[in-house]
Amino acid sequence: MADLEKSLDDAGLTNSSVREYVLHWAQFLDAERIEVVSAVDDARLLRESLDAGEIDPAGEGLYYSRSYSKDTARSEERTIVATSRPQDEGVYNNWKHTDEIRPVVEGHMKGAMAGKTMYVIPYLMSPPGSPLERFAAGVEITDNRTVCLHMIRMARVGIDLINDLDEPDMFVRAVHVTGDLPTLGQGTPEDKRYFVTVADERTILHFGSSYGGNALLGKIAHGLRQAAYDGWASGEFLGEQFMLLGVTDKETGEKHHICGGFPSASGKTNLAMTLAPDALGERYHVEFYGDDIAWLWVGEDGHLYGMNPENGVFGVAKDTNERTNPTALDAVAEDTHALFTNVAYNEKTHEVWWEGRTPAPPADLDGWRDWKGELVAERGADEADAPWAHPNSRFTTTLANVPNVAADFEKPEGVRIDAIIFGGRTRDREPLVRAITDLAEGVYDGLTLGAEATAAAEGVEGKLRYDPMSMRPFMSYPEGAYAAHWLKIVGAATHQPLFAHVNWFQRDPEDGHFRWPGYRENLRALLWIIARTKGEVTGRQTPVGILPLEEELDLTGLDISREDLDTILTVDVDRWREEMRFREDHLNQFHDLPEEIWAAHRRVAAALEQE
Ligand code: GDP
Ligand code: PGA
Ligand code: MN
Ligand code: MN
Repeated sequence: MADLEKSLDDAGLTNSSVREYVLHWAQFLDAERIEVVSAVDDARLLRESLDAGEIDPAGEGLYYSRSYSKDTARSEERTIVATSRPQDEGVYNNWKHTDEIRPVVEGHMKGAMAGKTMYVIPYLMSPPGSPLERFAAGVEITDNRTVCLHMIRMARVGIDLINDLDEPDMFVRAVHVTGDLPTLGQGTPEDKRYFVTVADERTILHFGSSYGGNALLGKIAHGLRQAAYDGWASGEFLGEQFMLLGVTDKETGEKHHICGGFPSASGKTNLAMTLAPDALGERYHVEFYGDDIAWLWVGEDGHLYGMNPENGVFGVAKDTNERTNPTALDAVAEDTHALFTNVAYNEKTHEVWWEGRTPAPPADLDGWRDWKGELVAERGADEADAPWAHPNSRFTTTLANVPNVAADFEKPEGVRIDAIIFGGRTRDREPLVRAITDLAEGVYDGLTLGAEATAAAEGVEGKLRYDPMSMRPFMSYPEGAYAAHWLKIVGAATHQPLFAHVNWFQRDPEDGHFRWPGYRENLRALLWIIARTKGEVTGRQTPVGILPLEEELDLTGLDISREDLDTILTVDVDRWREEMRFREDHLNQFHDLPEEIWAAHRRVAAALEQE
């Protein structure tokens, strides 16, 4: 114990509340030693991880890691929000009473760091000086050095960030224990994994994974689940799975900010990193603020403000290439110190590859191993068509590496939000873009976001499901209260943002091709949304919102067929009428849903019946 305390002295950790928390867990976990991590330790930690074989070099100043094969995505079934208040139970938060679940997860954790180093990662989920800074501090405890490397990229990490807190006890206690992965029974009735956020105690207890979404506790568990709960409990803000970007019109100098939610692996990172298509690049520039989380609040001037609490990007590798997302490739170029996880790796040349990186995989198989570590050249006939990279393989890089990151991305006061968009993978029904001018209808639209689930979560890929505001996996309190909180926060803004729903993923049922070219071309839909906030376009009113007239979209240089364009600018009334019945069932699950939301639902349904 004295040795452990001395290591905190040596590290210069002076916040006594943090010290007490760290020492408690060091004893409980039976840690052999404590190491407090700051961003300046990155180079040394990289060296140690290379020496220990936890990561491999992937070119000059780039790194590769492979995870246990059953540990590659978030596990929604094993994720629990606990509190001591039974009224916190919602439909999606897998609520449990703290007294019931805490002993179970702590039982798995007890003594788990015997003979090991316990890393202590003090972090801040906001730019320093933000109005929401008091909700942003946390201290992650982990047994996993690779988690430290990821946290250094994804969050602001350093002792100074928590030594001098205005309220020394106001930090999230975030405990991560990897566990002995091959013995945890992932996906079986004996599953031992637990990912618990004790929201009313601001404590996170995650056992049984080293995958980013489960193990980087500052990101999803704190930045989303805990923040959503804190925002509601304090009545001050919204914590959402939102990207956040700015669009500058170089001709007029005007800049607008758009944030919005798409389910995991449905296009947030790509949108925020968008380089304007060549035909529009002279005039417009997209600036990156955030790609996965935004906290939103109303500023003293009555505007809605948003900021990205993160400091890095944890992006999907699949289909990232020079055409779809050149910005992302630059963000993981040589000497960016980016980390790749679960892509394919060449052990001789140290190159990495993933599906969609180039049209065909490397022709010379020599040295290539797939994400499971098998030599591609030796894979059996049954595996010949298996992807080389895991569909949820990722890259991790800091915001400073992103070429289009906004100059003011760390501005503590955040940016004014002009529009809020929702979207997802929807193969039919959802047009390219529809604008919604009414707050309750906008919130209703978010609550009824329906899309195909992706490989970012275990076992649900391709399944059509509702994902309210893209927060289904991160919902921490009841949906009715969530809707009311949205109406309250955004309703308090004197300048209302425009809501819009977008869909880049409509497909031709005959051959399955995407009807909209997507990626960089998505800017064209954003430009229409911005024009609509300024009243420069009228569009045409439909039962489900305002759709653009074809001539209001800038389609210069766009390659799209007549049939595809007509289809994505049309409302399929029959399909929508059917959808309204599913929505009714969906909304009926939620208790205490505000009457304004039901009224919005009835308005849309009635308008569809009149068509
Ligand atoms: P995020 O997880 O929501 O941040 O989603 P990403 O931006 O990482 O994208 C997830 C996957 O969807 C990647 O494989 C992308 O290549 C793909 N994707 C992103 N945007 C588009 C788009 O506009 N059209 C199509 N067809 N695919 C896209
Ligand atoms: P994503 O982030 O939304 O970029 O996929 C990770 C996640 O939500 O699991
Ligand atoms: Mn996400
Ligand atoms: Mn992303």
